[in-house]
Formats: sequence, C-alpha cells, structure tokens
Amino acid sequence: MTACALWGLETALVTVEVDVANGLPALVVVGLPDAAVQEARERVRAAVRNSGFEFPLRRVTVNLAPAERRKEGTGFELAIALGILRASGQLRVDVTGLCLGELALDGALRPVRGTMPRVRFAAARGLGQVLVANANAGEAAACGVESFGFASLREVVDHLEGRARVAPTSVPPRAAAPHHSVDLAHIAGQETPKRALEIAAAGGHNLLFVGPPGTGKTMLARALESILPPLDDAEALAASAVHSVAGLIDPRHPVLTARPFRAPHHTASHLSLVGGGSPPRPGEVSLAHCGALFLDEVAEFSRSVLDTLREPLEQHAVTISRAGGAATYPARFVLVAAMNPCPCGFWGDAERECTCLPEQIERYRGKLSGPLLDRIDLRVHVPRVPFERLRDDGRERSADVRERVLAARERMRVRLATTGRRVNAELTVIEVKRFCSVDAATERLLAEAVGARRLSARGYHRVLRVARTAADLAGSDGVRGEDVALALLLRSDP
Ligand SMILES: Nc1ncnc2c1ncn2[C@@H]1O[C@H](COP(=O)(O)OP(=O)(O)OP(=O)(O)O)[C@@H](O)[C@H]1O
Ligand SMILES: [Mg+2]
Repeated sequence: MTACALWGLETALVTVEVDVANGLPALVVVGLPDAAVQEARERVRAAVRNSGFEFPLRRVTVNLAPAERRKEGTGFELAIALGILRASGQLRVDVTGLCLGELALDGALRPVRGTMPRVRFAAARGLGQVLVANANAGEAAACGVESFGFASLREVVDHLEGRARVAPTSVPPRAAAPHHSVDLAHIAGQETPKRALEIAAAGGHNLLFVGPPGTGKTMLARALESILPPLDDAEALAASAVHSVAGLIDPRHPVLTARPFRAPHHTASHLSLVGGGSPPRPGEVSLAHCGALFLDEVAEFSRSVLDTLREPLEQHAVTISRAGGAATYPARFVLVAAMNPCPCGFWGDAERECTCLPEQIERYRGKLSGPLLDRIDLRVHVPRVPFERLRDDGRERSADVRERVLAARERMRVRLATTGRRVNAELTVIEVKRFCSVDAATERLLAEAVGARRLSARGYHRVLRVARTAADLAGSDGVRGEDVALALLLRSDP
C-alpha cells in the first residue's frame, strides 16, 4: 500500500508493508513513526473489527518505509487497514493507488489535512489514482488524478473488490469571481490613501495607514482585496496547498480563485500568526501567501508578535523549528496595517484635541519597531473626511483601478523577466540602480529629502521602488520627477 508523509509542505511517498505471522496476537507499527502513528494502531484495530472484518489473532507487523523519514500522524490509517486486510486474505485484490485517510473507531473514513500537496506529489511520481475520504475527493481530483471518495473502510473494500463501484470524483468547478464587500467607489474622498492602495496592489509594497478613529482606515485596507490582480495557476496551487495543510480547503471549490486576504485580530498569538505546533501548522502569514495580510489596530499587537514578522517580510517564508525537524512554509504577502496616531487617536486631528502625553505617544508608536517599519514602503495619513462629503461616491470603482494595476504588473513582468523578481517591491539595490534611474533634477529632489527628512539609504531605495511602481501605473518607461514626489509624499512618518 502506498501512502504519503507530510512535514510542513515537504512530502514523501511511504510504503506500508504488513506482515502477519504466527505468535501472540499483537499489532506492532515500526518505522519511527511519531506518537500519533502509535495512536493510529488502536483506531485501525477498532475500525477493522467494526467494519465487519476480523482483526487477525496473530502477530501483525506494520512497517512504514522508508523508516528514517519523519512522518506526521494522520493519513496512514487507511493504508494500514487495507494492508492488514490484504495480508490476512480479507481483501483479494492489490491496491495500486495512493491511500490517504484517517479511520474512526466505527470504520468511518475521515478527511486529512494536507491532501493537496500529498496528492500532487504522488501524481508527479506517477500515481494516477487516489483513495480518500469524501471530503478530500474534490481536492484530490483538482490535482489531476483519478480520485475516489469514500465514507468508510467497508465502502473502500467493496469498491476495490468490485461489489459496489464508486465513480471517480469530477474536478470541482472553480469558484466564481469573488464579490468584495468594499469597493473603492464606496469610499468618499481619501484620494491619497487610495493612490497608496493602488501602488501597494501593483508593486507589492507594504502599506501603513495612520489616522484618527472612524476615518475609514479599516474600510480602505479592506478595499485592497478588490484591486489585487487575479491569482495565476501556479499561485493558486501554492496558496491552496498551504490552506490544505491548515485544513481550510472548501471541498466544493478546493483551488483558491481569490487572493487570500487574512486579517488576524490583534490578540493573535505568535503561533497563530507565524505558525507552529507539532506537526508544524502554517500561520496567518503563510495563509496570506500570494495575497495580503491585514493587521488592523497594529499598535495593539504585542511587540514580540510583531517582531516575528521580520522573517517572513525579509525571506518571504517562515521556518518553524520543532523537535521533529524544521518545516518551512512560504509567506509572500502584501502587508497592510492600520493604526491611530496615538493612544487617544486624535493626534493631528483637525477637530479634536489629543489628550495623550508625549511619552505615551512615543511608546505607542514605538510598538512598530524600526526594522518592521523599515519594511513598510508606504506610510500614509488618513485624514477625516468632512461630514457633508461622506455620502459622496468615490471617483473610481475598484474594477477601473484594477485595470491599471494589471497593466502595471504586465510592465513589471516584461521588465523583470530575467531577474526572477515579480514586482517592484522585490527589487534589489542593484536592480533599483538599473531600473529606477532618474534625471539630475529629480536626483536633487531626492538629495534634499535625504538631507531634510533624514531619509536613510534604505529609505532612499524604497522611495525609488515606489516611484518605479507609480511610473508603471502611469504607463511611463522612465521614473519621472512626479513619481518620486508622490513616493516621498506616501512615506510620511507616522
Ligand atoms: N471616506 C469614507 N467614505 C465613506 N464612509 C466612510 C468614510 N470614512 C469612514 N466612513 C464610515 O465610517 C465607518 C468607520 O470607518 P472605519 O472603521 O474604516 O474607520 P477606522 O479609521 O478604521 O476607525 P478606527 O480607527 O476606529 O478603527 C465606516 O464603516 C464607514 O461607514
Ligand atoms: Mg479601524
């Protein structure tokens, strides 16, 4: 029997060998499995009996090969049970496909996490058929294999022996284009924050909104979803694989069609944000892979939790180290964060006086450490929109802005084709030199900014990357003075 092990997104085929020999009745599972595999013994034993089979009253040895391989607990039970039935002559045919599933004590077959990466791996190794629980059948079918879904061990055996054949599951349809709850047209005014959103969506730049309560920061951030480009096939599979490991796949539409938009609450723990546990599960940063991570009220997050974002922001991946070995999950996302300028929220507000002490303000803003802030290219003030203008419609609909975003992405794709980068936010310093040259007058504007606003070397390159995206959105080959001016404007410090 063939199963598939999973650790993080790392997969390996596992051969389940079963030997039934004379001796005292026992079920021994070898192959260095983790504690959960040992638990599986009891479930397999009960499931076999409760499905109307006999559990051999002899010494049953199960070997999960290769033995040195790390193995996550669930998913092997179906293969083990079928192996025992085959070895004891209760199953009279060979099983050639991949078997994935957990068994309940009553013999029901339960879905497992990580079906998609496992089935894709097996398919790439030439296994054309998989036997899984009903809830996993669509996910497996989406990987391009012949997928059979079952409710119980009994059903699997009846199918294999031809008593009650089950039809292969058809590939589930792609979900319809998502409906976004916030459209830019719903937001009155706020032209500058909207420009920032457009630049973030096009160039993959991280973005921070700062402003008093109720000025629409949350609403603006949520609108990002509506202007991001669609997922391409490779991204859809990569993002879906992470969701599969997290057990968050919708069985009716297993392959994601919309970019993930994850908005963890500020009470989120380190574990839920970056992942962890044993076996290691992906966190919000990885569920946001290929999409956006929204941290609303970012200053309310614990500082230590925010500091853990540095690794994914720099490496576009997180490595979770555990006793069983390290697991790496991808984590390439656009960060969009929102906060008030001070604890009371009214610092710099035209209408209300701020009641915070200077040191309170300092401490509050200090929550976003320098290194984190350094990775946020766009920092934008969101002012209050006059009450009488709140009912106005925005100038543009998200669909129109999205068209510009797509066109800008296409320009980036062509320009960056040989670099391995996809968006301007990823440009290295050398690439900034190459792709973001400006004329002498603009260079002087930058030099002034460096002097007056103490723009760091890093800040200098970030401004140029943002300016490059602004130029791409305008359809300009060169980075113009106005692009740099806009980039400087969208980088006011909170
Ligand atoms: N520019 C705007 N156009 C239309 N409605 C707006 C605008 N700004 C705010 N609103 C209205 O005010 C509500 C509050 O906005 P939102 O929650 O986004 O503010 P916020 O800046 O996130 O506030 P807080 O700092 O309290 O989190 C929105 O649900 C919306 O109804
Ligand atoms: Mg808010």
